[in-house]
Amino acid sequence: MRRLVAETRLHAADLVLPLFVKEGLTEPAPLASMPGQVQHTEESLVEAVRAARDAGLGGVMLFGIPAVKDAHGSQGDAEDGILQRALRASRTVLDEVPAGTATPVLMADTCLDEFTDHGHCGVLTSTGAVDNDATLTRYASMAVAQARAGADVISPSGMMDGQVAMIRDALDDADFVDTSILAYSAKYASAYYGPFREAVDSELKGDRKTYQMDFANAREGLREADLDLAEGADMVMVKPAGSYLDVLRAVADRSDVPVAAYQVSGEYAMIEAAGANGWIDRDRAVMESVTSIKRAGADVILTYWALEIADWLR
Ligand code: PBG
Repeated sequence: MRRLVAETRLHAADLVLPLFVKEGLTEPAPLASMPGQVQHTEESLVEAVRAARDAGLGGVMLFGIPAVKDAHGSQGDAEDGILQRALRASRTVLDEVPAGTATPVLMADTCLDEFTDHGHCGVLTSTGAVDNDATLTRYASMAVAQARAGADVISPSGMMDGQVAMIRDALDDADFVDTSILAYSAKYASAYYGPFREAVDSELKGDRKTYQMDFANAREGLREADLDLAEGADMVMVKPAGSYLDVLRAVADRSDVPVAAYQVSGEYAMIEAAGANGWIDRDRAVMESVTSIKRAGADVILTYWALEIADWLR
């Protein structure tokens, strides 16, 4: 009876699997703060994308970690940069099934923090502040490089003002009129990104409070989503998910495009850690947390458990 009358159901197609690929690795490198997750080699990334495809996931989100980082994140838009190489290899895997077969949407993180030696999401001014407008130019170039490498969805996660409009123009000018934009709209400066810093070898010192939002504010999240919608976002995101279900609900109620939520690295790590200690029932907590994100209004959920959940749902 509970199954019959459940108001919310998860489906593998709701889920997007975030994946990390690191240049120069010879073996996948396990992440201590994200048990079960790894930095992939180019080869193991392809296997993970194939697994996502065969599990019927809705999408994969790729993060690239270059061997060399610099102040401008120059590997971010290099044609042979790690993320572009991984996108091309993923495109091939996704396209090898018969035409008409549903495959995961190929998404790319469009941000500089994985590529800069200072770890900020943008380029810096001479005084060390993040330079919003100079960063927009870099994002536009990254977006076109990612689209050229086969990305279906460009995902600006740097919270620069005007990033969606700038990327839309650049994509259109380069004839990528069908490439979509998933805007990280209400993205909070969050302690829950902690394990992600290990996942991308981040060098960040300090914080992102000049561009990511204050967790005290919900209205501001709506304003950010409205701006991104006006600039042409095809989807908007709330991130993190679990501590922001109120913001997610409010954005879902007013958005006329699909809404995504990102269950981030710290949310994953907490349930894994408590589960490993026998303090909570891990599997039940996973399903409860992800189902609650959908109940709160997410059409699309990014979660590191995507493959495992898809397996449970079979
Ligand atoms: C920025 C980005 C971050 C995450 C996704 N994209 C880190 C940050 O903003 O500090 C975090 C994802 C997670 O914690 O799982 N490129």
